[in-house]
Amino acid sequence: MLIFLLILAASACSKESEQSGQNPDWKRGRAVYVANCVACHNSDPSKDGPIGPALKGSPPELIEYRVLRTQYPPGYKPKRHTQVMPTFPFLKTEIPYLVAYLR
Ligand code: HEC
Repeated sequence: MLIFLLILAASACSKESEQSGQNPDWKRGRAVYVANCVACHNSDPSKDGPIGPALKGSPPELIEYRVLRTQYPPGYKPKRHTQVMPTFPFLKTEIPYLVAYLR
């Protein structure tokens, strides 16, 4: 019985860590997001923020275009038609982590 409980506990843990992002890429992405994006976007990327729209599920090209240039990938239909967001050239190497977090 004890063994059974231990196995149950262990499998519950590994499931939870998958969701809450023990994944180091996800964690790093979250740190970058919190430090640079939440002034305008919601700290929960699935919701609209005070200025910027919800970002959950953003495709990688969209994130790269928006963060490094003030553009959208060809054919992408922007959620907003404003031109408020600045670029973040210093985040060039962080794009893959933002992608992992906003997936
Ligand atoms: C100064 C406020 C501000 C900051 C900081 C900011 N954004 Fe934005 N973001 C916006 C606004 C406003 C829009 C809507 C388009 C516009 O006005 O530029 C937007 C749009 C976007 C979009 C396009 C959404 C869509 O589907 O049309 C993405 C992706 C995005 N932001 C990602 C980020 C990321 C990642 C960061 C952090 C590195 C960030 N933004 C930081 C204000 C901001």
